[in-house]
Amino acid sequence: MPKYSITVNGTIRAVDVPADTPLLWVLRDELDLTGTKYGCGTGQCRSCAVHLDGEIAYACLVTIQSIGDQEVLTIEGLSDDLSHPVQKAWLDVDVPQCGWCQPGQVMTAAALLEEHPSPTDEQIDEWMSPVLCRCGTYGRIRTAIHRAARGGDR
Ligand code: FES
Ligand code: FES
Repeated sequence: MPKYSITVNGTIRAVDVPADTPLLWVLRDELDLTGTKYGCGTGQCRSCAVHLDGEIAYACLVTIQSIGDQEVLTIEGLSDDLSHPVQKAWLDVDVPQCGWCQPGQVMTAAALLEEHPSPTDEQIDEWMSPVLCRCGTYGRIRTAIHRAARGGDR
């Protein structure tokens, strides 16, 4: 009998793992959803950003036992066909370099636009600068977020 049932990307998934297992490892190792990236495991890099009931959460810090009825959204669930405005803008602007941080960037940008549909540069920097990108893609991230906010126009 699985110990936990959680809703991930709209589907109820059952897992049998210890109570203190981080959501990050449930997603990656139990559910084969490897889009959510491991960087630090301590809440510092934010590469593991997902949405929990629409709010940003860091999957390395969230234990399976704490999720309850909250709905988990990962990068795989943002759209079926890369049609989310943030994904489209990311592709149009060609944001990624190595790609390691990008799922966390995209999930954070999607949450930012939910809260601030027309964000200022300052709001973008406040939200996005803590999501560490060792490749320095922040300029393109800012451009892509403005593009997504405008509905895809340059
Ligand atoms: S892996 Fe979660 S914040 Fe770095
Ligand atoms: S694209 Fe390489 S770490 Fe961000």
